[in-house]
Amino acid sequence: MPPAAAVVGRSIMKAFQHLATQDLHTRRVEEAYRVVVECVTAVDPAMRLYMFGSTAVYGVHEKGSDVDFVALSETDVEDGKGEDAATQVAKGLQAEFLGKLARVVRQKHFSWNVEEVRRTRVPVIRVKGGSGVDFDITVNRRNGVRNSALLRAYFEQDPPCRWLSMGVKRWSKRVGLNASVVGGSITSYGFNLMVVYYLLQRGALQFIPPTAIDVAKVAPVPPYLPLEPPQNDGVELGERVLDFLQFYMNEFDAARHVISLSRPGITTKEQLNWTKDAEDRARMNGEKINYQWCIEDPYELNLNVGRNVTPLKRDFLRKHMDKARETALLTST
Ligand code: CTP
Ligand code: MG
Repeated sequence: MPPAAAVVGRSIMKAFQHLATQDLHTRRVEEAYRVVVECVTAVDPAMRLYMFGSTAVYGVHEKGSDVDFVALSETDVEDGKGEDAATQVAKGLQAEFLGKLARVVRQKHFSWNVEEVRRTRVPVIRVKGGSGVDFDITVNRRNGVRNSALLRAYFEQDPPCRWLSMGVKRWSKRVGLNASVVGGSITSYGFNLMVVYYLLQRGALQFIPPTAIDVAKVAPVPPYLPLEPPQNDGVELGERVLDFLQFYMNEFDAARHVISLSRPGITTKEQLNWTKDAEDRARMNGEKINYQWCIEDPYELNLNVGRNVTPLKRDFLRKHMDKARETALLTST
């Protein structure tokens, strides 16, 4: 028998106790924003800087979490619903800009560690700053800003849902399912898409068409969205968490369906042609694409955010979800 919802909720609240005494205001990353703006301006004064990722999605900044930045041209912003180019040429131009930016960052902040990552789907520079904030910088890509704004718009419909997301993210990192840890296969972003899809299926949120999100209307530095402690001593949170696990363990049809925010209702693998046949042929950067646990990216054409979930990793996912019911997302042990 899994523990009662009240026990689960209280246990998760306790795991996040440290947040009660922290300043979660997004102004805490404004200093990092200013520093990066200065560097970007030195390369090209016409570029604008946007913050996205968890700070934008939640509207709070947790101590220690990294910050995502993207430098956008005026045209990128004005054409705020435009598609991002995915060509090799576009990638090359992005890498070139980031190379210049990396040089400037190194010049201005010689003690920082600046790494240019080129092998990824999206060229990025990874900066480990001395001031305690680490950040990633990309360029000319609107999709991160758009998908963060989309997730945020969902969480704004029901701000306490952020606790479910934060609980799931913490758990995914601790059990090794999160792509940020060795052997992990689903990014925090992927888990957020899972959380929102579950809430949509339950009718707890109203569908938002991804096309509605326009970068031109998004604030470059995300506004603060205060995080109130869970109501009712965590009973609803506990219910949500148990129901989330129940949904993905017993209701979601992973063999036929796709976790998707692209359209309301059910999306099938068939519809996207994410079939066994396509799986056998598809490669990205030489690596196999799996269609075992399908999460459709709302903006990137034909991209499975769950592509690294192999049959073995899908089994891990199931086993960890099963255990998570007993351990309140690994907070009670
Ligand atoms: N992102 C994306 N496509 C991916 C992975 C990430 O577009 N396949 C973008 C999303 O905009 C996401 C941001 O990169 O919000 C940061 O991703 P991630 O680090 O996975 O999520 P966070 O919410 O920042 O979580 P964490 O606290 O673990 O950093
Ligand atoms: Mg992040």
